[in-house]
Amino acid sequence: MIISGKFFYKNNIFEGCIVVEDGVIVDIRKSVDSNEVVNFPRGLILPAGIDVHVHFRDFEERYKETIESGSLSALHGGICLIVDQPNTKPPIVDDKTYIERIKKAEKTTFIDYSLNLGLTEGNARKISEILSRIEEIANVPAIGEVFLQHRTMQVSYETLKAVRNEIDKLITVHAEDASLIPEESVRPKEAEIVAVRRCIEFGDFYFCHISTPEALEMIHRSKSFAEVTPHHLLLSAGKIEFERVNPPLRSENDRIELLKNFSKADVIASDHAPHTIEDKREGAPGFPGVETIYPLMLNLVRKRVISLRDLVERIVVNPAKIFGFKGYSGIEIGNYANFAMFDLSDVRKIKAEDLHSKAGWTPYEGFDAIFPKTVFIRGIKALEDGEVLVDRGFGHICMTKTRMT
Ligand code: DOR
Repeated sequence: MIISGKFFYKNNIFEGCIVVEDGVIVDIRKSVDSNEVVNFPRGLILPAGIDVHVHFRDFEERYKETIESGSLSALHGGICLIVDQPNTKPPIVDDKTYIERIKKAEKTTFIDYSLNLGLTEGNARKISEILSRIEEIANVPAIGEVFLQHRTMQVSYETLKAVRNEIDKLITVHAEDASLIPEESVRPKEAEIVAVRRCIEFGDFYFCHISTPEALEMIHRSKSFAEVTPHHLLLSAGKIEFERVNPPLRSENDRIELLKNFSKADVIASDHAPHTIEDKREGAPGFPGVETIYPLMLNLVRKRVISLRDLVERIVVNPAKIFGFKGYSGIEIGNYANFAMFDLSDVRKIKAEDLHSKAGWTPYEGFDAIFPKTVFIRGIKALEDGEVLVDRGFGHICMTKTRMT
């Protein structure tokens, strides 16, 4: 297959042809002498995105989301690979549950899938053993999201430090200091700033969903990595219904400051945390977002709020490098042919009824966004004009050493 058009290559927009064989990019050049060229004249071909922070629920919370519905939602938003989080019911804190989850994903995911291993006080002393049992079969991208404040999965600094010293694996941390959150509903900025400062003192980490400019700056000056989310960049406290999320939305000034410093973050991820409206009414924290992350951020590129290069680095290149996803780091010879093709003039208002998560609502109702026209995953056209062209189970388990079923 040969695709021609304008595409993002070596940090610039290049007009030419991408030659694909067996799902892999084998050549990139100005022109090709062939009549089997697929043209994409009216838009921009970007590498499909990676969302390294999603909660696809499933198991006992199938009513909120399943791997199937979450991955379908991701596909519609131009995402080709996700990292699922282990705070499921039951949580993924042992090899048996991990493998069960991977087997389920293998049968049901529309896009490529990977899964973190959870850390709790209960499994911390056995974490190396659990990891090595899983890694006989599948590679674990990271330990995390580790919660320093959580109803059931809370981990102390001491435990985190011991695990950091013991294993040489990426650890992703939800940094909010438990001692600074006296009630469930009060989560001050200091809780994040203090937690990040303390963790950085004893190790290098990947900090999830950084919501304060102060913590972002600290991480930027360290060897650790910072993830930001569209909701902390686009929404501020007191402006939307169902605004509860952890860490919380901050003031408008903090939001603007965070957005101005987008280039200091290493990764953008959605923290897709689907809850039904009924659950939100009862105070469940979190927003769905895997389908809207790329479309919302691309609209910011169109409006020249951020650069295309900064976005592609944070939604494709850096996630692939930091989490070790070989072949996913963008449009390059030797990488998978994972493309999301956008028409930048086709700006649409986001409507919950158009989205595919089981959550059934979005905090971005009415926001401008640019959704992909076509998505290719490993050289296969998976989505075109809203029509899904692959079946559940099409997605691969990323970095699985052997196929499990
Ligand atoms: O608001 C949140 N919801 N923050 C998290 O870190 C977890 C998430 C969830 O799983 O619902």
